[in-house]
Amino acid sequence: MNEFIRIERLFCSLNKVQVLRNINMTLNSKEFVSIIGPNGSGKTTLGKVITGIIKQDSGEIFIDNKNIKDLSLPEIGRKIGYLFQNPDRQIFASTVYEELSFALKYKKTSIDIIEKRVGEILDIFELNHLRDASTYSLSQGEKQRLAIGAILLNDPEYLILDEPTTGLDPKRKNELSKLLNSLINHVGILLISHDKAFVLKHSDRIIELYDGSLKNDKKN
Ligand SMILES: Nc1ncnc2c1ncn2[C@@H]1O[C@H](COP(=O)(O)OP(=O)(O)O)[C@@H](O)[C@H]1O
Ligand SMILES: [Mg+2]
Repeated sequence: MNEFIRIERLFCSLNKVQVLRNINMTLNSKEFVSIIGPNGSGKTTLGKVITGIIKQDSGEIFIDNKNIKDLSLPEIGRKIGYLFQNPDRQIFASTVYEELSFALKYKKTSIDIIEKRVGEILDIFELNHLRDASTYSLSQGEKQRLAIGAILLNDPEYLILDEPTTGLDPKRKNELSKLLNSLINHVGILLISHDKAFVLKHSDRIIELYDGSLKNDKKN
């Protein structure tokens, strides 16, 4: 397996409080790794530092062998699809169809292909009936499905999903499981989750954070 993300001696503070302490880890392409740990242990912060949304105090992060200090946010965004813990932070378009078609339109994809690919995502995520609905009108679970769908249409090499099962009922969670299974061997995934059963079901490797430090890193 090839190394995709490498984190070296990472320290990070938020409002002068140290939140991540001396994190070292390597995440491989096409590997399914989960980050677990109690509330406030730094999981969300770690995901945001990797994607350049928050800057570290010290230490280095490499994506695909490039230091993220030398990459712009859009450049990181093309390599890593990042699902925010709160999907409201993610969704920006006014309708479901606009949200899903945005990245493909930006890449000047032909309308036929856009229709086909957005159609597949609408089917998989059971959003067909909401195709022209206002994104504001969606339930939390619908927003979550829309946000994941939009990320997948960006064709990222790697996904970081922060608490993707929040707001999903058992049936939807099962759908998400199937979808993640279909991505295995195609993309690398870092799942941030306190959903133990979901983590155990999917992960090749489980990393545990405790109070901003890496407590455990072992095969599942
Ligand atoms: N914007 C912020 N400003 C200051 N402290 C924050 C901020 N966001 C999170 N924190 C603190 O950072 C720590 C780690 O938070 P977080 O990364 O969200 O943990 P987790 O995702 O594991 O619940 C917590 O102590 C939290 O209170
Ligand atoms: Mg969190």
